[in-house]
Amino acid sequence: MQTNLQTERLTLRPYQPSDAQALRVLADNFKVARMLTRLPHPYPEGEAERWIGTHDDLRAAGTGYPFAVEKDGALLGTIAIERGDCGAFELGYWLTESAWGQGLATEAARGILGFAFDELGLAYVRSRYIADNGASARVLTKVGFLGTGRARTFHAVRQAEVEMIHLILLRDAFIRDDSGTKQVYKAA
Ligand SMILES: CC(C)(COP(=O)(O)OP(=O)(O)OC[C@H]1O[C@@H](n2cnc3c(N)ncnc32)[C@H](O)[C@@H]1OP(=O)(O)O)[C@@H](O)C(=O)NCCC(=O)NCCS
Repeated sequence: MQTNLQTERLTLRPYQPSDAQALRVLADNFKVARMLTRLPHPYPEGEAERWIGTHDDLRAAGTGYPFAVEKDGALLGTIAIERGDCGAFELGYWLTESAWGQGLATEAARGILGFAFDELGLAYVRSRYIADNGASARVLTKVGFLGTGRARTFHAVRQAEVEMIHLILLRDAFIRDDSGTKQVYKAA
């Protein structure tokens, strides 16, 4: 059983089978899929049901915590931390296009990172973004992530090589609200 996480404007909650139709509609967007490495495009029929069906086992095993991002009762997207190949937990997220530009991804990231550090007791969380994803770069730096390296990989949706920027957030470096962020960036 996983509890909901409440932020100022958002509820982060476990997906339900009844979310599948809405999820399929939101996820089937090239502008979203081109920035992710694991979202198939076009989004296949039945994929939403299959993916939601994996969540109970992930949570039971302690290897993944996917949340539906909801605002005023409407599904906006997904945010998750999941154990990657190297054993570290990685943060990933996407929101539907109409929700962009309102600080919602940053708010959701702060919600799930609070859970990661305070509830799960993680010492650090990793993340990565494709080099041309300025919005995600900004979300991650606003909450305190620092770059650790770059690597090229083939992107199935773009059918091209992309450069991935890898980052890490140490628990003590987590910027929990906006109060210090602007100072950090003014000083930089
Ligand atoms: C990345 C994404 C989640 C951002 O969502 P969002 O709710 O718009 O993010 P926020 O509003 O919290 O923050 C975005 C920040 O990036 C900035 N930004 C937006 N577009 C930008 C760009 N092209 N270049 C640089 N910065 C950009 C915004 O101004 C904002 O920064 P600010 O608060 O300093 O003004 C959303 O664009 C998305 O879902 N994209 C597709 C999927 C994706 O990229 N997922 C992440 C994969 S790593």
